[in-house]
Amino acid sequence: MKKLLIIGNWKLNNNKKIILDFCKKLNSYLSTINYDHHLKISIAPPILHLETFNLILQQLHNNHISLTAQNIDVNILGSFTGETSISMLQEIENIKYVIVGHSERRIHHNETKELIAKKFKLVKSFKLIPILCIGETKEEKNANKAQKICKEQIDTIIQLVGYQAFDKAIIAYEPIWAIGSNQSASTNYIQYMHQFIRHYISRYDINISKKLIIQYGGSVNKKNALEILSVKDVNGVLIGNSSLDCDQFIDIIKCTK
Ligand code: G3P
Repeated sequence: MKKLLIIGNWKLNNNKKIILDFCKKLNSYLSTINYDHHLKISIAPPILHLETFNLILQQLHNNHISLTAQNIDVNILGSFTGETSISMLQEIENIKYVIVGHSERRIHHNETKELIAKKFKLVKSFKLIPILCIGETKEEKNANKAQKICKEQIDTIIQLVGYQAFDKAIIAYEPIWAIGSNQSASTNYIQYMHQFIRHYISRYDINISKKLIIQYGGSVNKKNALEILSVKDVNGVLIGNSSLDCDQFIDIIKCTK
């Protein structure tokens, strides 16, 4: 059975009440299925709610759902108003992954490839697993530059951290034009891009490329999840809108059987 990583990226949504109801419902469903060996599930709530989420999971004695941080600052300590330190995140148990380079950070916060590479390196140094988000705009796709853009986003990491950094790391291919559009990329296009990403990494190290988890993100929902998760080089999905409602999230998990 194919191993899959399902992550819900809540972005700036939901609240404490929803978290409690969400955890109870998800925990109850997961207790009815046998998925230990092939399925990993993580939620990326707003950073403010990571502690709450963890406490509720502990109260439910759930050790199957891990937590993901949506972002960190490149600084660990000091006069950086409003930022989030990875060393402080580590005081919250159960945080396993950190998203770096999400297109919404690159666009709304002008995060450069170089800054994202520094964050990636910092996540690795704290023994957490970075999820590097890469992907092209509609204009870049239409100009046949999608692979060039993704290669450049990967190269910046390799230049700063070395290709070995992709061992115990994740790449999330999220075509920007599919995010929030309610129209995912086609399965053929997803396989075309995921195969390119895996092949590109294999040019550095075939073993790292074979183990590399490549998630797809961009309008994954209960209707398209089964076909997307069936794509050969898809090892999971990074879900935005469809992860906010527990019933929809569970419907996507059901597609992993
Ligand atoms: O990180 C995942 C996110 O960008 C996808 O969002 O709403 O298109 O599933 P959405």
